[in-house]
Amino acid sequence: MSAVLKDVPRLERMQARDLDEVMAIEDVIYTHPWTRGNFTDSLTAAYECRTWRVGGELVGYFVLMIGAGEAHLLNLSIAPAYQRSGHGRSLLREVVDIAGRLGAKSIFLEVRPSNTAAQSLYAKFGFRRIAVRRDYYPANSGREDALVYTLPLK
Ligand SMILES: CC(C)(COP(=O)(O)OP(=O)(O)OC[C@H]1O[C@@H](n2cnc3c(N)ncnc32)[C@H](O)[C@@H]1OP(=O)(O)O)[C@@H](O)C(=O)NCCC(=O)NCCS
Repeated sequence: MSAVLKDVPRLERMQARDLDEVMAIEDVIYTHPWTRGNFTDSLTAAYECRTWRVGGELVGYFVLMIGAGEAHLLNLSIAPAYQRSGHGRSLLREVVDIAGRLGAKSIFLEVRPSNTAAQSLYAKFGFRRIAVRRDYYPANSGREDALVYTLPLK
C-alpha cells in the first residue's frame, strides 16, 4: 500500500478482537470509562460499533444505537495522541451518515457539563442542547448531570 493511502483513515466494524486496543484508549480518556463488558454487550446487541484506524493504528471508535427512527450516540472517542487533528469531526460525520442511511430521523447524545471540548464539537456540528438529565453520570464526588443534545437529520 502506498504511504498516502496508508494514512487515509479507515472506518471498520468493531470486532471483539479490537477490544484490547479500545479499552487501552477508553481507560485513559475517561474518568469513568466503559467496561469491556459494555462494549461486548454493544457488539452482541448489534449496535453500530465502528473503529477508525490510520495505518492500522486505532485512532478512535464509536457506538451508535438505532431504533424506532432515532439514533443514540453512546460513545465517541479519539485517542489522546490524535485529538485536535480533526478526527472527532470526521468520525462524527460518519455517525451522521450511518444514522441517516439506517433511517434515523434524529440523533441524541448525552455529554457531561464539564466536557466542554465535546460540547464545542457537537455545537459546531449543529447539535442543539435540549435537556438536562439530573445526576446522570457517576462522578468523583457524587454524580454529574448530563446535557442532552440532538441533531435532526434530513
Ligand atoms: C471530544 C473528542 C471526541 C473530540 O475529538 P477531536 O478529534 O479532538 O476533535 P477535532 O480535532 O475533530 O475538533 C473538532 C472540534 O471539537 C472541539 N474541540 C476538540 N477538542 C477540544 C478541546 N480540547 N478544547 C476545546 N474544544 C475542542 C473544537 O470545537 C474543535 O473545532 P476546532 O478545531 O475548529 O477548534 C475527543 O477530545 C475525545 O475523544 N475526548 C475524550 C472522550 C470524549 O469526551 N468523548 C465524547 C463524550 S460525549
